Amino acid sequence: MTTVRLNSADPVSFDTDALIVGFRSGPDGPRPATGAEALDAAFGGKLAASLSSVGFAGKPGEIAKLPTFGSVSAPLLVAVGLGESADLEGLRRAAGAAVRSLAGTARAALALPAESAAQAEAVALGGLLGAYAFSRYRTGDDQKAPVADLTVLSGAPGETAERASVLAESVSLVRDLVNTPPSDLWPAKFAEIAEQTAAETGLSVEVLDDKQLRDGGYGGLVGVGQGSVNPPRLVRLSYTHPEAGKTLAFVGKGITFDSGGLSLKPSASMDWMKSDMGGAGAVFGALVGIARLGLRVNAIGYLCLAENLPSGTAQRPSDVLHSYSGKTVEVLDTDAEGRLVLMDGIARAAEDNPDAIIDVATLTGAQIVALGWRTAGVMANDDELRELVVEVAGAAGEGAWGMPLPEELRKGLDSPIADIANLQPERWGSMLAAGIFLKEFVPDGVRWAHIDMAGPAFNKGEPYGYIPKGGTGAVTRTLIGLAERHASAANK
Ligand code: BES
Ligand code: MN
Ligand code: ZN
Repeated sequence: MTTVRLNSADPVSFDTDALIVGFRSGPDGPRPATGAEALDAAFGGKLAASLSSVGFAGKPGEIAKLPTFGSVSAPLLVAVGLGESADLEGLRRAAGAAVRSLAGTARAALALPAESAAQAEAVALGGLLGAYAFSRYRTGDDQKAPVADLTVLSGAPGETAERASVLAESVSLVRDLVNTPPSDLWPAKFAEIAEQTAAETGLSVEVLDDKQLRDGGYGGLVGVGQGSVNPPRLVRLSYTHPEAGKTLAFVGKGITFDSGGLSLKPSASMDWMKSDMGGAGAVFGALVGIARLGLRVNAIGYLCLAENLPSGTAQRPSDVLHSYSGKTVEVLDTDAEGRLVLMDGIARAAEDNPDAIIDVATLTGAQIVALGWRTAGVMANDDELRELVVEVAGAAGEGAWGMPLPEELRKGLDSPIADIANLQPERWGSMLAAGIFLKEFVPDGVRWAHIDMAGPAFNKGEPYGYIPKGGTGAVTRTLIGLAERHASAANK
């Protein structure tokens, strides 16, 4: 794991292998950003012109590397574009892209705009997240190791680095779980990892196994999990703070592999379905982060874990499940399994009497149709809560957008024999219909929001900013941010 420190040293004389500096784009070419001026002077004021001559304009994400020929202590200078005006997310992305481009280098220092603690944290966090690599399954030595030591050149207080490290480690934990192949991550294994981590972090943990789920009336988890030789689990993680005034419950979809079940997916839609536990991953990572930051809030996380496979014991389209809430559900399509495990998790979470329930799920392909790969859909039974989730996600740089839950869609979920069906016959508005389905399992008076992050959980394309290929760890920082918004003020 990459480490980060803050240091108020002069970038010109700082001893490191690579020095990262920011440039803004402008009509007259790249301009040195705060932190880069002294360097520009060390290059006789010719840095911007030299960068321009190699085609660098300072656009967001742009990288140019120059040897320094002894004009500063670092042998390599990495210029990264900040665009016209970089906000905190712009800084995270620039730091991430620059650090990722330095794989194979041992030490790097970031001389990006970092006068405020918030800016310094953004640079540290972006750098750490950009240094992420998942190399557990590589046997050769052709892989370049990520930068091991990062220094943010800033006079901001030192705790900033500690906070950034906690956030980055929480996200990396989620990325690792999402990237782990389903042969090495099945429900009981995920539960075991959660138990072990909980013990190390001071979280309380309870795990219900398949027999306890059956006896406890968790029909959704049992139904979805019964086709696999790897039975389902429900993990409950809890963090309490003595001065907490609020309790949040997070519920995560944790399908360790989604084949679709008997309603089998085509191969092309299946090869990345190891990422279908991304919601449970985010909930797990958030609980770990909240505990490590010692936030003054109570947080409970439910991981709804099952493997959705076809077999002679698998649930069939037309089976009826008895959910934990007492409602019956006709399974018209076994590939609409996420809502079946979540309905149990949500009903169970409501028993904790939280101030709000937030569920997180890679729930529908329709989310990707509506909002694309990088923007999660946020639905809620409370406008203020939905807006808060969108705002907190935005501040974390995690794309999210409010979506409605139109009442008229409920009719499409009518079942001829059970209380509700898990699928509406038409495909239009399927992200919203899934939200409408989940809402049925939220008791009256309980504030609830649903985050559909089917697209954001997994990056099938090339890395960008601080986002690698594969598992992204999306929504983890949004949940931590929500916990921060519900935390009591310190020193009361
Ligand atoms: N896990 C999938 C949703 C998904 C699709 C996640 C693409 C990430 C990327 C979910 O279980 C699913 O199969 N949803 C179906 C629901 C349909 C049968 C109502 C879908 O979206 O097609
Ligand atoms: Mn599915
Ligand atoms: Zn799924």
